[in-house]
Amino acid sequence: MASKPFKNRRWPRAIINFIVLYFDNCCIHGFRYVVQAVLLLFERLLWLILLIVSIYFCIIVSLSSIHRYNTKSTHVGLERNYHFWNTTVPSITLCPMQRLNASFFANYCRVNGIKGPQKAILWDFLENLANSTYINFQNIPESDQIDQIIKELRLKPENYMELIYNLTYDSTYEPIEKQRTRSIDGQVNIHVRQVLTEYGLCYLGNSRLGEEYSSRYLIFGKYPEPNKYEATRKLLQYQIGSYFEKDVGFTLLSFSSEAIDSYIHSAFEVMKVDTNFGYTTEGVVYDPVSEEIIAEDNLETETSVQMRKCRFHHESNLTHFPFYTRNVCQQECRINLAFRICKCIPHFYPNRIANPKPVCDYKTLRSCFPRHADFFLKLYEENEHHEKPATCYCEQNCLDAVITTRSALPMIGSKQLLGSIGSAITIKTWPQVRLKRQVIFSMTDLMVSIGSTAGLFLGFSVLGLVEVLYFFTIRLIWQVLGYTL
Ligand SMILES: *[C@@H]1O[C@H](CO)[C@@H](O)[C@H](O)[C@H]1NC(C)=O
Ligand SMILES: *[C@@H]1O[C@H](CO)[C@@H](O)[C@H](O)[C@H]1NC(C)=O
Ligand SMILES: *[C@@H]1O[C@H](CO)[C@@H](O)[C@H](O)[C@H]1NC(C)=O
Ligand SMILES: *[C@@H]1O[C@H](CO)[C@@H](O)[C@H](O)[C@H]1NC(C)=O
Ligand SMILES: *[C@@H]1O[C@H](CO)[C@@H](O)[C@H](O)[C@H]1NC(C)=O
Repeated sequence: MASKPFKNRRWPRAIINFIVLYFDNCCIHGFRYVVQAVLLLFERLLWLILLIVSIYFCIIVSLSSIHRYNTKSTHVGLERNYHFWNTTVPSITLCPMQRLNASFFANYCRVNGIKGPQKAILWDFLENLANSTYINFQNIPESDQIDQIIKELRLKPENYMELIYNLTYDSTYEPIEKQRTRSIDGQVNIHVRQVLTEYGLCYLGNSRLGEEYSSRYLIFGKYPEPNKYEATRKLLQYQIGSYFEKDVGFTLLSFSSEAIDSYIHSAFEVMKVDTNFGYTTEGVVYDPVSEEIIAEDNLETETSVQMRKCRFHHESNLTHFPFYTRNVCQQECRINLAFRICKCIPHFYPNRIANPKPVCDYKTLRSCFPRHADFFLKLYEENEHHEKPATCYCEQNCLDAVITTRSALPMIGSKQLLGSIGSAITIKTWPQVRLKRQVIFSMTDLMVSIGSTAGLFLGFSVLGLVEVLYFFTIRLIWQVLGYTL
């Protein structure tokens, strides 16, 4: 159909003409029948209805593809070819039950003029403060003398953790090998670091988390000093094993304490304060089975956190922690809950944020926390009327492992044998299944899906789209300028 050059007074007519021209030439089948003058009005109407129905379904089906892309684009599959896997050995977190170093403390007292009976009172107070967690806040002593000493020292709750850190000896840097807190497997050293946990300062061995998870980083924002003693032998960050290896494991030894509490957990996680082995004066040998969940290489790049519903360590959206794991997210829930209920947070949480939350003084720790200990630990409140979960949602770790401990035996006589106490892991059986997060509906699949939907319902294609653009840009300009095609 030929069209005339546009005249100012005939704009609406010209626009309609142009659209008719588009319909007539358009790539989408059926459009042309709507505007063909030779057809009956009834026929044209029929085509119009057909067109509208097709476009409607095209949009509905495309939207459902987009929904699928956003919510169901990943799945977790099962792998069985276990001969070829490398499995990471679980981590151990070991908390010494004697916390402070007597010579550091003596020095601190000398510098600050604490003498005589005051010294014993302060030691008892600080030792219990350093050893406190949700289950034993009530053990922190309370007295007028303590108040008096704290006043003299001008010790503010915000500085509790820093003082405890200053008075704790990081025994992973001990020069004498026999007295060092270290993690060994035969002649190989495995990296151990001091970490800040909900149970004070502890030692963590065989972890896949970055150095952000260390006491120095969480309290002062500085990475720990490199440990030259560890590097004297072959040093591994974490140990892996495969199906054909027998008895892979390591021993985490702590010289600095008479008693320890140990936690065994996935190498991708931090310890959970309520799943400990308990107070022991002997070491413990664990025989765990570790079933891993891994991720396909393209999972991170091709999907967003909302789509895959899991987070990698470096994808933290937490306020108090610079890295993400599920347990750390739950710790943050606890921080928020404590802040809501007791109006302050315990000293053992990192608080290096833009608006630091107030830290509880020891009296609040004694008075407010024990009453709600169960709620804080389980994040779930049960009272006689109703059950109330705390409002907190934590995504899974994209990489993780489920640890099942088959046996945990005390290491009798280890103290005589090794000269120190510690916990050991030996893996006797390797997992025969593991889970894998996979992308099953990627961006390319979405494009193909929408494209083929458009093709199915409208006979539309990429070149058709280009044609639309062409028609309403270059060709429109020609038309306005008065050329006829
Ligand atoms: C398993 O670990 C060994 C080194 O310990 C490495 O050579 C091998 O490539 C790893 N295998 C896989 C599948 O990652
Ligand atoms: C530290 O706390 C644990 C658990 O409440 C307790 O068994 C242990 O005796 C405490 N240690 C000291 C030195 O008080
Ligand atoms: C801890 O030690 C550092 C460096 O020695 C010092 O600057 C800081 O004031 C100490 N903190 C407390 C609470 O004593
Ligand atoms: C206290 O610290 C010193 C190093 O300054 C260390 O030699 C000593 O072994 C530590 N004491 C304990 C009980 O860890
Ligand atoms: C982190 O993200 C999750 C959802 O992805 C959200 O529920 C949570 O509130 C976020 N946390 C913070 C501190 O923004």
